[in-house]
Amino acid sequence: MISADLVVAGLDQLLTCAGPAPKTGEAMKEVGLREKAWIAGHQGKIVFIGQEAEFREKVKLTENACVLDGSGLIGLPGLVDCHTHLPFAGNREKEFSLRIQGYSYQQLAEMGLGIQTTVKATRAISREELKELCLKRLKIMLLNGTTTVEAKSGYGLNFQDEIKQLEVLQELKSLQPVTLVSTFMGAHEIAPEYKTERRVYIELLKSKIMPEVINRRLAEFFDIFCEPTVFNLQETRELAEAALNLGFKLKIHSDEFVPIGGTELAVELGARSAEHLINITPEGIDKLSRSQTAAVLLPGVSFFLMLDKKAPARELLDKRAIVALASDYNPGSSHLISMLLVLQLGVFTLRMTVEEAINACTINAAFALDRHYRCGSLEIGKDFDLILCDLPSYLSLAYELGRNPVKFVIKSGRLVVEDGRVKS
Ligand code: NIG
Ligand code: FE
Repeated sequence: MISADLVVAGLDQLLTCAGPAPKTGEAMKEVGLREKAWIAGHQGKIVFIGQEAEFREKVKLTENACVLDGSGLIGLPGLVDCHTHLPFAGNREKEFSLRIQGYSYQQLAEMGLGIQTTVKATRAISREELKELCLKRLKIMLLNGTTTVEAKSGYGLNFQDEIKQLEVLQELKSLQPVTLVSTFMGAHEIAPEYKTERRVYIELLKSKIMPEVINRRLAEFFDIFCEPTVFNLQETRELAEAALNLGFKLKIHSDEFVPIGGTELAVELGARSAEHLINITPEGIDKLSRSQTAAVLLPGVSFFLMLDKKAPARELLDKRAIVALASDYNPGSSHLISMLLVLQLGVFTLRMTVEEAINACTINAAFALDRHYRCGSLEIGKDFDLILCDLPSYLSLAYELGRNPVKFVIKSGRLVVEDGRVKS
């Protein structure tokens, strides 16, 4: 008999999003739909998925097992937000208001605002304050069904404050249930002190901050903003190669505004992902589609910056690129925290099907974090990360807008959200 300590009985629909990961092409249309499904876990891992008769025959409950009634609910893997800038301070409301009056994101950056505004605010607060801000945000994410979050530094831009951001993330791992994957993004912008001496900042990253991050295992990934006004292609190559040599896994912010070859470089260097891609070129699409580098699309950015241009999701999908979706949660270009809203924007603005968008927010997002062997799908042996939504069918994940349908969240086999509230 299989032992189970947590069971969800008789879900109207269960989407397993089962792999193999990553999914491309036809497999993206498949969400592993099961009707009237039972799912059970033991000590944090999934041990059973099937129908009631099989459950009764094969599974035995442990003494204090908890059984949830799944009727009227649909279940799917905990959502994976594979690109966020979580540890920031302050907000950019005033700049938002300027944008509404016609200033562009790049114009604000040229005026010394944008990322620099958030750098000032993030440097100015204490570790404790930053931790509290992140805890609040992670709680909202969890209530909205996100159970794994990638989080980038990049608002410190000096030794002390980049390390502060990463140490806060490290501490948060044991303070709350959401799984955090840390990325070092000291190459988010040239630090304000080094605007006229960019080489000095690049050397500081390479010789001091990056080795410290790796030696203390403060981040698994290295990310860089490849853009003519930020890090050009040669600088991106130099820093990315240095990161790979030190043992970081690689991500690149490429083709967000001006395509200068960042995506092609990501493919050449075997990066785990190329992210943004709003202005990716036909050659970039071609190269990416023939690679194992994931295309992480962030539809919140075109929406939030009110850009007509969107990442060419349809073309990437049709050419069998590995497509994932994420929020890019940050105060400047995508102040958007809910992965269900991201899923909806994937459908409404990028013309993805509901099934493609679901896979892009689960199994392929987990692949983009090199976590597909643990989360992003419901399969025996994987982490028991499950969200239960009060919806008539999975199509309503995209069809019903503006209400959070997440009623229950199970994270690593523990019920952490019950009736829409975080359990204390
Ligand atoms: O992913 N592109 C660079 N970084 C963020 C924006 C950060 C900010 O504006 O604060 C992004 O869009
Ligand atoms: Fe970003």
